[in-house]
Amino acid sequence: MVNSKCLPLLMKEFEARTPRSRQVADRARRVLPGGETRSITFYPPYPASITKAAGAVITDVDGNSYLDILNNYTALVHGHAFPPVVEAARAAASEGVVYPAPHEAQLDLAEHLIARHAVAQQIRFTNSGTEATLLAMRTAQAVTGRDRFILFEGGYHGSAPLITGPHPQVTRVPFNDPAAVEEVLDDTIAAVLIEPCLGVGGVIAAEPEFIQTLRDMTYKVGALLVIDEVQTLRASYGGATELYEVDADLVVMAKLIGGGYPTGVMGGRASHLRVLDQATPGAIKHSGTFNGHLVSARAGLVALEHLTQPAIDRMNASAEKLANRIEVSGRTNGVPVIVTRFGSMLHVHLQDHEPANAGQVTPDPTAVSALHLALLLEGVFAAPRGLVALSTVLTDDQLDSVAAGYERAFARMTAH
Ligand SMILES: Cc1ncc(COP(=O)(O)O)c(C=O)c1O
Repeated sequence: MVNSKCLPLLMKEFEARTPRSRQVADRARRVLPGGETRSITFYPPYPASITKAAGAVITDVDGNSYLDILNNYTALVHGHAFPPVVEAARAAASEGVVYPAPHEAQLDLAEHLIARHAVAQQIRFTNSGTEATLLAMRTAQAVTGRDRFILFEGGYHGSAPLITGPHPQVTRVPFNDPAAVEEVLDDTIAAVLIEPCLGVGGVIAAEPEFIQTLRDMTYKVGALLVIDEVQTLRASYGGATELYEVDADLVVMAKLIGGGYPTGVMGGRASHLRVLDQATPGAIKHSGTFNGHLVSARAGLVALEHLTQPAIDRMNASAEKLANRIEVSGRTNGVPVIVTRFGSMLHVHLQDHEPANAGQVTPDPTAVSALHLALLLEGVFAAPRGLVALSTVLTDDQLDSVAAGYERAFARMTAH
């Protein structure tokens, strides 16, 4: 049983260990609303302020080090300061950083992604996953002449009103529920957007039949199917699309494809992407000062080249091992734990039932905060809400230390 009094004690210990992080947080609050610039990275009493990171180890301003099993929410698939990526970024920066013109590094990355991902016959660069999602929505509107969308409860595709809703053009339905989709999918819908595995929503994978049914239903009404691979690309060489053998119209990618630098990509069938070709009458005007940034393109290509199928297989096997160990140590300590996994992404759910959709994620928020703080105190850096995303550079010894960290964290939560 989780001791309800553990959270204030953990907070006190965290504060005692992080006096300089508190100073940084006080300074941040004067210039940033809430002391943050990214809603998701805040946690009470204040986040540990990071000062450097290399490989799988990050260090805060107080000199505490942590094994990073979050990797900037899946973006740093080779951990921090991965030498080949650093070298590529350094070389690119010395060549001029960004040009107001096309360059071959964009084409090298575009060709790699097109060879790698079954849905991407052509691509367009953006600066983030949010922008790529919005571009996919505009593209779907232009292709279909319709303006409404279906998204899933617990789905996350970025930070913009049209995507985060509620929005009059968006209907949200439960994940893994084909009947709910059927009820609202008609010939006014431009596109259905789906993460093959809800990432932010709790690492909940789509049932294969669900994705197949979506494909059939969207074809029937002439709506596009947009697959969001921003997080799931790491699951297999060709992303979740390869695992599910799904035949989508458009794909959105971001995070790891920039090697840690900002970028996003919207890709899809060449026949659909014609609406972005300036030679097409009424073409979508899509610009961005940093679209196809030189540093991101070079760093991203190197990161992708190192993300081979054997490297992915090793990461996925480590994640499976870790998931099992976390469940066992939770059980041993009397903490209800279910770990969901998709490739190298995990979500540690503090509940006793496996969720099939976001509505079934019902943890005690106090226990979730307690686990997160206890992990930090044990030198493990996971997401406050329970997400884990491994990197290729985490060694077996480090993985053992992470598993032991979870075990001690559960013991802290149940101690009296
Ligand atoms: C599945 C998914 N899509 C889109 C996004 C948005 O990407 P970005 O943060 O680069 O705008 C995210 C970000 O977490 C994501 O997880």
